[in-house]
Amino acid sequence: MSRGVILYIGVSLDGFIAKEDDGLQWLEETEGEGDNGYTEMYDSIDTTIMGKRTYDYVMEHADAFPYPDKKNYVFTTSEQGSTEYVDFVNEDVVAFTKKLKGQQGSKIWMVGGSGILDAFVKENLIDEYIITVTPHILGSGIPLFKEKNPQIDLELVDTKRYGQFVQLHYKVK
Ligand SMILES: NC(=O)c1ccc[n+]([C@@H]2O[C@H](COP(=O)([O-])OP(=O)(O)OC[C@H]3O[C@@H](n4cnc5c(N)ncnc54)[C@H](OP(=O)(O)O)[C@@H]3O)[C@@H](O)[C@H]2O)c1
Repeated sequence: MSRGVILYIGVSLDGFIAKEDDGLQWLEETEGEGDNGYTEMYDSIDTTIMGKRTYDYVMEHADAFPYPDKKNYVFTTSEQGSTEYVDFVNEDVVAFTKKLKGQQGSKIWMVGGSGILDAFVKENLIDEYIITVTPHILGSGIPLFKEKNPQIDLELVDTKRYGQFVQLHYKVK
């Protein structure tokens, strides 16, 4: 038995998840439709995994922690213990995730950013890629994918348009 890991993330047409200064204004200002499929994805997961920089961004910009009803793991070498909502983890990310996948439960959301995602892609640990593309060529920023990854062959299972967003849904073959 194994539960899937989803990457659900917003990206510019040229493949960036944030500006160099971490700015997400371009993403937030894109005109979508409804909640752009967020609730459907959110209801399918019971666990999130994110990197410390993404956690810090969320804590700085959100009024309240956005995933309070989920089990949340923040990978970091600089913080230990837990808060009301998250556990800080400094373990081998691949072994940790494989262990999680083997436990009973719903899907796992890899929230990002690209620092922590890199370990997942290098080990082909993502089972579904749900990539929401915005109508921007940012030119520079934090790229979704780093280099020297293995080739991963995908199957396109769905595309949806939400206003100015296009959402691409792939499963790993
Ligand atoms: N467009 C979107 O939908 C979207 C989604 C998510 C994030 N973002 C944006 O992406 C940016 C952050 O991405 P990022 O790539 O810079 O950073 P990140 O992946 O969120 O976090 C990187 C940090 O996570 C920790 N980490 C990473 N790999 C680890 C490992 N194997 N073991 C232990 N700790 C590990 C380290 O923290 P320590 O330094 O503490 O050790 C590292 O500095 C932010 O601007 C965020 O807003 C955008």
